[in-house]
Amino acid sequence: MVGPGAGRPPPGGIRMVEVLDPQAKQKPASPRHNGHDRSDPLPMIPAYVVDGASRQPQMLSGDTLRRATLAHVAPAVIHELRQPLTAILSSAAGCERLLAQDIPSREALAAGIGMIRRNAERAVGTMRSLQQLFVEGGLQRRRLDLTGTLAETAAQLADRAQDLGVRLEQVQSVEALCVDGDGILLRQAVVNLVENALQAAASADGEPAVQLRAVGAEHRCLRVTVADSGSGVPPGCVSRIFQPFVTSRSEGMGIGLWLARTIAEAHGGTISVGRDAALGGAAFHLVLPAARA
Ligand SMILES: Nc1ncnc2c1ncn2[C@@H]1O[C@H](COP(=O)(O)OP(=O)(O)O)[C@@H](O)[C@H]1O
Ligand SMILES: [Mg+2]
Repeated sequence: MVGPGAGRPPPGGIRMVEVLDPQAKQKPASPRHNGHDRSDPLPMIPAYVVDGASRQPQMLSGDTLRRATLAHVAPAVIHELRQPLTAILSSAAGCERLLAQDIPSREALAAGIGMIRRNAERAVGTMRSLQQLFVEGGLQRRRLDLTGTLAETAAQLADRAQDLGVRLEQVQSVEALCVDGDGILLRQAVVNLVENALQAAASADGEPAVQLRAVGAEHRCLRVTVADSGSGVPPGCVSRIFQPFVTSRSEGMGIGLWLARTIAEAHGGTISVGRDAALGGAAFHLVLPAARA
């Protein structure tokens, strides 16, 4: 029932790895968890899927619903943990090479172990936040300044941008942009948007560029914009790209935007997409409620 769908996308087309009812959000399935009704507003559980073999819409309940939920969450966990775990493996290999030397440098070993610890802490923090979001239906909120979150994101993706030959800029806000939220999840949402933007910019003509902008917006909201010089999102695809497992990339999982939207909505925010006047490609807007004074 929950299995892979179509194969490679047609050029420029959208591939649906798992076909979901687009109305699923309007038809909450009242899933039960740990013996109590979940009444949180998270949109991640589809009430209906289309059966891969018969193409018939099916209402999910009980174990089937639980399996479908896991099928959504597992790729998200894989997606978010791959990077820190890969970094841990490479640091551990570096430490082992050092230990094979006659007189290993204590400083180099300490640096390698420190790197392992920081990445392990990141993986554990990510798991804790994802568990809170998906299993417990809540957030680990604390007051944070989004400017710092954006700086961390830009630093985290600087090497990736360089590899792809894309200029990645952060347009600094002069004001503090405070939200009450889960910093790990919010950073992940922005990382997913920037990762997409880098790929879009790298695969289009012209000078590839991505900008990360944050401003205080109307109605006590903050707006983070990730804009790129790519070819933009075709208007006919806009409503579908936020659904899980929808991708136009042959190696894509179609999870990044869905996860970003889930994180935004869990914070009482939204994500939308339009075209960027300055860079010419897509502009994704993450709007979040500002922290109360
Ligand atoms: N910045 C962008 N410019 C153009 N298309 C985009 C952009 N970001 C996302 N998309 C479209 O949305 C789809 C879904 O994105 P995402 O959920 O991150 O999954 P994936 O990156 O695995 O394809 C992409 O395959 C692409 O078609
Ligand atoms: Mg993506």
